[in-house]
Amino acid sequence: MTEDLPPIPASTLPVAARAPGKCIVFGEHAVVHGAPELLFALDLETQVFVRPSETTRLNGDPHAGDTNPYFARALASLWPDGSPIDVRAVSRIPRAAGLGSSAAFAAALTAALGSATGGIDRPTLARRSFAVERGAQGVGSPGDTTAVVGGGFLALNGGPGTPLWTVEDGARTWEVRRVTDPGWNWVVAHSGIPRSTATAVRAVGERLSLPDGPALLARFREVAESGTRAVERADRADVARLLVENQELLRDVGVSHPRIEELLRAAAPAAEGAKLTGAGAGGSIVALPKDGKETELVRRLARAGGLPFVVRPSPDGARLLDPVSPG
Ligand code: MEV
Repeated sequence: MTEDLPPIPASTLPVAARAPGKCIVFGEHAVVHGAPELLFALDLETQVFVRPSETTRLNGDPHAGDTNPYFARALASLWPDGSPIDVRAVSRIPRAAGLGSSAAFAAALTAALGSATGGIDRPTLARRSFAVERGAQGVGSPGDTTAVVGGGFLALNGGPGTPLWTVEDGARTWEVRRVTDPGWNWVVAHSGIPRSTATAVRAVGERLSLPDGPALLARFREVAESGTRAVERADRADVARLLVENQELLRDVGVSHPRIEELLRAAAPAAEGAKLTGAGAGGSIVALPKDGKETELVRRLARAGGLPFVVRPSPDGARLLDPVSPG
């Protein structure tokens, strides 16, 4: 049986929508090349508020339609009549941190504009949000936009049962399946080093095109498949072991960073396992705290210069806010 995720209903402007960030547990980068990925929606969110206006603006900037590629893509593909709109966006997700701030903006704006143009079902919201993000970034998989649209834990190209939906980019198809949340708290810490997803994705693509690339990709696949099964049976020890294995592979393809390695060393005494999360080359780590050591883990990461958060998967994906409020 597949779950029925609620559609985004039709409404008229003004409209407000929100979407969570995301945390990748297994399989970033490899998912771009068709391997499995496991990720969850974060309980940190972005909210957008859209209303009619005299000129089109984003957070007061009348040039954002030319300078912000996400906004430009959304306007071009999702706002066919081109009537001027004022968009205000507020976010609790750190930017350029590997935690899905751009996917959350793309999905919240896509949900708001989709609602104002007759409403959309969830698979369409996922596909359109991916088209906005991919159009803006030029590279990447639908993992991030899938997580922020679907909420909870989701697997791409892995996981049990029937797919909820599929996303295609003309060259590849990704299947999306629900994975049961084991109910754990996770700790995420931002290194403070901003990074570009597109640059990291291109560098890994080059690395995987070397002769040992297929063997490396096969190892990413095995770790994500085993990790997804371990999350399904709530086996913390196995999940922790596989986090560490996944980090070794990410190091091998060149997307770790000295600050990430420092945070991982600082976390080690209080974490069962940890790895970078997202595109890497800076960005954030995700750690599974040792039993009773969540606070110690947060303290250790803060002392090492990270910005730590205790996070829980958010069951909610992108949705409208009712009643509409400017946030
Ligand atoms: C970025 O959050 C995750 C990557 O796998 C890129 C992508 O899937 O689009 C590095």
